[in-house]
Amino acid sequence: MGIHCLNSNAGLFCWMDLRPLLKEPTIKAEMALWHVMINNVKLNVSPGSSFHCTEAGWFRVCFANMDDDTAEIALQRIQKFVTKKEEEVATVKKKRFVRDLRWRIGVQIISITCESLNNFQITIEALEEAYNKAIEAKIRVKSLIITNSSKPLGTILDKDTLKSLVNFINERNFHLVCDEIYATTSFRPPHFTSISKVIQDMDCNDDLIHIVYSLSKDMGFPGFRVGIVYSYNNEVVSCA
Ligand SMILES: Cc1ncc(COP(=O)(O)O)c(C=O)c1O
Repeated sequence: MGIHCLNSNAGLFCWMDLRPLLKEPTIKAEMALWHVMINNVKLNVSPGSSFHCTEAGWFRVCFANMDDDTAEIALQRIQKFVTKKEEEVATVKKKRFVRDLRWRIGVQIISITCESLNNFQITIEALEEAYNKAIEAKIRVKSLIITNSSKPLGTILDKDTLKSLVNFINERNFHLVCDEIYATTSFRPPHFTSISKVIQDMDCNDDLIHIVYSLSKDMGFPGFRVGIVYSYNNEVVSCA
């Protein structure tokens, strides 16, 4: 299957070596990987540390008491996860934000890491990691800026993810800027949901929510140089 396991002649479980997938060789990283497998792969494979394994990255696959069909599905999921993880994990940064926000305005940008494992959705863990990085660097966080549908992948942020982003910024009282310039460029499900739709049934401070749009992409009018800011915040609107 392309996953290294410890050799044995018999048994009710085997030890699977996921050390190459750890971000660092620590039990903390092992537990983080375990959480990813539970949440994204929907498999609970016990981390070695819960069986006193002292080296981080070993997982105990228990195949006793499981019918063949279930074992087959579980193996396929593990294989897909492991091979995908090795080949495709990537982070995507929007270079244009660097030009427009850092170079021109002087804003410091902290990137949020998105991974192929969950189709580049923004997880709360990744958001918290970026937020904590900013706090540690004594950067005052003023806004989260996202592109939905994303560039360059065209990935669509699902409703639950958008809700969790709204909750995140609302709890910490900073702004959310949604660049929805590629709103109608995706033709296959899942379909695009605007943040304006998401906040309709949420209890949040909508003064913090802003949408940007332009005629360049969906309308194919890049030369017109027409940009749109749709904000729920009257002060922002009156500045425009
Ligand atoms: C995500 C995103 N936002 C905004 C823009 C700006 O578009 P324009 O200046 O053509 O309106 C672009 C252009 O490439 C983009 O990719």
